[in-house]
Amino acid sequence: MHKLKLQEHPDLEKSYTREDWQRGYESLTQEFDYGIDDIEGEIPPELQGTLFRNGPGLLDVNGQSIHHPFDGDGMISRITFNNGRAHFRNRFVRTTGYLEEQKAGKILYRGVFGTQKPGGWLANIFNFQLKNIANTNVIYWGGKLLALWEAAVPHRLNPHTLETLGKESFNGVLSADEAFSAHPRLDPSCAQDGGAPCLVNFSIKPGLSTKITTFELNTAGEIVRKHVHSVPGFCFIHDFVITSNYCILFQNPVTFNPLPFALGMLGAGECIKFQPNQPTRIIVIPRTPQTEPQGVKILETSSGFVFHHANAFEVGDEIVIDSICYEALPEVEPASDFRQTNFEAISPGQLWRFDLNLKENTVQRELIESRCCEFPSIHPDNVGRPYRYLYIGAAHAETGNAPLQAIVKIDLKSGERQLWSAAPRGFVGEPIFVPRPNSQQEDDGWVLALVYDAAHHRSDMVILDASDFHKGAVARLHLKHHIPYGLHGNFTSEVFLAN
Ligand code: CO
Repeated sequence: MHKLKLQEHPDLEKSYTREDWQRGYESLTQEFDYGIDDIEGEIPPELQGTLFRNGPGLLDVNGQSIHHPFDGDGMISRITFNNGRAHFRNRFVRTTGYLEEQKAGKILYRGVFGTQKPGGWLANIFNFQLKNIANTNVIYWGGKLLALWEAAVPHRLNPHTLETLGKESFNGVLSADEAFSAHPRLDPSCAQDGGAPCLVNFSIKPGLSTKITTFELNTAGEIVRKHVHSVPGFCFIHDFVITSNYCILFQNPVTFNPLPFALGMLGAGECIKFQPNQPTRIIVIPRTPQTEPQGVKILETSSGFVFHHANAFEVGDEIVIDSICYEALPEVEPASDFRQTNFEAISPGQLWRFDLNLKENTVQRELIESRCCEFPSIHPDNVGRPYRYLYIGAAHAETGNAPLQAIVKIDLKSGERQLWSAAPRGFVGEPIFVPRPNSQQEDDGWVLALVYDAAHHRSDMVILDASDFHKGAVARLHLKHHIPYGLHGNFTSEVFLAN
């Protein structure tokens, strides 16, 4: 299907044009609330629940461009599936910074990824006040809808109205200057909680040595376990993985030179330099420290940079970890515009499997998928456990680096791949696997993804049958507008609509 489409555009050398891709980064200033009625195909009636997504909604403040999309104000998009119908709503997270900047009509804060206050270095020198932009992930857990940003506390929202309720401290367990990463993992069956599910998360306080805090939350949304660890060296860690017994974090080989940041010349994210000749350290933290006398273990493997992991599981004394690994950290160039990204000049993210032997302290790694890919998703019941199927955003072409235009299903057992592509004019966001209620097969369910359609400058909610991508989209829900490329989100089987 996608090949036919490409043949209609023989002038296209690539599967996309940069102009099409760029338009998906226009700000969305409006907040909507409507039933989706422009639908191709049929929404499966068994698909009941709510998909929450987060990402930068504003790529400028009143016309002043931000330097990197990671600096954009968080906007929640919600699609509610109920009895074969769907409803859309979006709202910005009312962070202090968002409200102040919207009122002032200009950028007031420096961004981690290089957005500077206007006025050059003089306006930015020794200004360490960053904006908690709440733009990276959104999760419904323990009756709370939380917008997450890794360098600060979460913002709590009303799941029915998406109204911002304020900062979340989990009854004061999280102090105001603490962080709560944007990548919690849901353990479907926690041994320490008698088999009940729990949410596991971490936070990082980098320095010459780095403080790593792990949190575990019960189904009531309370922090029931909190452990603090210290590891040598500076850490830049965005995501982690869990197994039944461990939290595992990859310490990417980077150095941090704070001087240009302190002097107001660069954002903190721009002062991070990748060190290709140094190893990646894999930090293995027991989830039950009292039963594990050796405590934290650090193993080493070849250099590379990891933002996201797909999953991890234990096999005897070994831990298997599947991660998206880059040859180098794509650096944020101070003078460049991210919209001018030269994809071909950057190394693609590829899926690797790491085998950790805890007895021998060795790591083996193996390339699973060489196609450029990012944003993995798996069946929620398999988090931290052996699994077979993985769904991931991917480039349309088999080789090279390019924007994500396709979704690949990988059968880790048979090696089979299935690809659904939105090329040449569609660009995909993070796919989310949603199991069919009472399903028995691991791939019995749907894959939901927002696809930016440059031909109509709007976004579609695409529903794929996870067991068979080849039959094409089950349904394509056309929104009335576009949604700027987002980051992460989660699905809950609870149906949230405004009352
Ligand atoms: Co992420």
